Amino acid sequence: MMSSLYSQNLFSVNGFVAVVTGGSSGLGFMIAKGLVLNGAKVYIVDLPSAAIEERVAALNELGRESGGSTQGLPCDVSNKSEIASLAASISSQETRVDVLVSNAGIRRDPPIPCDVLKAPLSELQASMWSSQDSHWASTFAINTTAHYFLSVAFLPLLEAASRLDLGNGRQGRSEGRGVVIMTSSCASMHNVTNVDLTSYATSKAATDHLVKLLAAKFSRFYVRVVGINPGFVPSNMNPVGQEGNMFSSLFDRVPAKRAGNEEDIAGTVLYLASRAGAYVDGINLCVDGGRILLANGQE
Ligand SMILES: NC(=O)c1ccc[n+]([C@@H]2O[C@H](COP(=O)([O-])OP(=O)(O)OC[C@H]3O[C@@H](n4cnc5c(N)ncnc54)[C@H](O)[C@@H]3O)[C@@H](O)[C@H]2O)c1
Repeated sequence: MMSSLYSQNLFSVNGFVAVVTGGSSGLGFMIAKGLVLNGAKVYIVDLPSAAIEERVAALNELGRESGGSTQGLPCDVSNKSEIASLAASISSQETRVDVLVSNAGIRRDPPIPCDVLKAPLSELQASMWSSQDSHWASTFAINTTAHYFLSVAFLPLLEAASRLDLGNGRQGRSEGRGVVIMTSSCASMHNVTNVDLTSYATSKAATDHLVKLLAAKFSRFYVRVVGINPGFVPSNMNPVGQEGNMFSSLFDRVPAKRAGNEEDIAGTVLYLASRAGAYVDGINLCVDGGRILLANGQE
């Protein structure tokens, strides 16, 4: 019998059903790729305006060898009734969801930027005051509240995955099934850089606590809830390498001396979603090449 310690067993998501929000771009697409290439059935969820069908076609091509597959579903995750419809639609096709990756997110910077480490008081105040209240509301709706309603809406399907009878007294939870993985950010873990990310960072700090609150609430069913806190990763939100990127002076200061990439992000999700991570619950895992060790006060 093959040892359970072989990496292909330990990190297996073969046959898992996964839902990935924001799955047609950036980190969500990297995560969907990692899951599909390893044999999972993945629903990518995104705004109707996103390139969902294009991404579905690419992912289905990637899944040919492993048997992984993809379907796309439009949903604005800032809308509770759309989340309810999404969960109802997936419930009509699936008896369980093994992995919910609640990943969609936005960042809304103050329209008037400034160097927060050096700007005189009046300039700092003008920049911070330019932040729009509607931007705070949408940031929290997508970056925090959506994780809550998605987790609650999918709870019965996640619980069914955790309870899945695998024979010989083993349940889905023994393989890691029945987990919510929220994409937070290392911005929740540091306080000061030369740019103002206050609405974004506070929404992510709220997410970190939400991970613990929901993990505790769902613990009776062993539906695990974990968060990942990435550093810089190339995406639409953070076009690393593009001229004028507001973080460009910081990339070299990450101890890893590079941005994160799809191996870093997909690898972390495969760990947390599989047998390897089945004993990990209620934590946030920072995947930032060491950035938060040095981030405070960076110019
Ligand atoms: N890129 C980075 O450096 C970085 C670092 C830390 C954390 N993150 C987090 O990673 C996650 C993914 O962001 P990304 O960097 O890949 O950016 P991205 O802009 O490339 O992708 C975000 C995705 O979320 C979708 N989305 C936005 N609002 C939505 C809504 N209301 N309903 C449904 N989908 C919606 C977008 O359409 C898009 O597909 C976010 O939570 C972000 O905060 C990114």
